[in-house]
Amino acid sequence: MGAMASHTPFFFTFDLTGTNPMSTNHPVVVYGASGYTGKLVAWKLAKRGIPFIAAGRDKGRLEAEMAKVPELKGHDYRCVAVQHDKAALTDLFTGRQVSSASRW
Ligand SMILES: NC(=O)c1ccc[n+]([C@@H]2O[C@H](COP(=O)([O-])OP(=O)(O)OC[C@H]3O[C@@H](n4cnc5c(N)ncnc54)[C@H](OP(=O)(O)O)[C@@H]3O)[C@@H](O)[C@H]2O)c1
Repeated sequence: MGAMASHTPFFFTFDLTGTNPMSTNHPVVVYGASGYTGKLVAWKLAKRGIPFIAAGRDKGRLEAEMAKVPELKGHDYRCVAVQHDKAALTDLFTGRQVSSASRW
């Protein structure tokens, strides 16, 4: 991440217990992953070998922004578009650790 390397990402997590069937494969969600902070969090997760879901409102934007993080090459992550409403976010977050890096 070049110039970003000296920064410490700002994020917080929720530990939500649940029964989401995909939680074993991708135990972490980075919500707002397409942004500045989201990319820093994604980079840190990749450094630690932690699979994650990069989530936001626009899948194309997520894919384009994740492609800008060289450390993610070969890392286990997937981009998921999610509506910004309670039901959709609950469905995605349930059973996962969530890092919110969005401006909502
Ligand atoms: N940048 C910093 O140095 C810094 C320092 C301390 C704290 N923070 C905090 O970290 C958070 C993110 O900051 P950032 O600079 O990384 O922001 P950013 O680059 O603008 O990215 C924010 C992300 O939030 C999502 N978003 C924007 N508006 C939204 C909305 N109305 N509803 C849902 N999602 C929305 C966008 O994702 P999609 O469009 O893909 O959904 C976007 O990628 C903010 O709360 C900020 O206050 C940032």
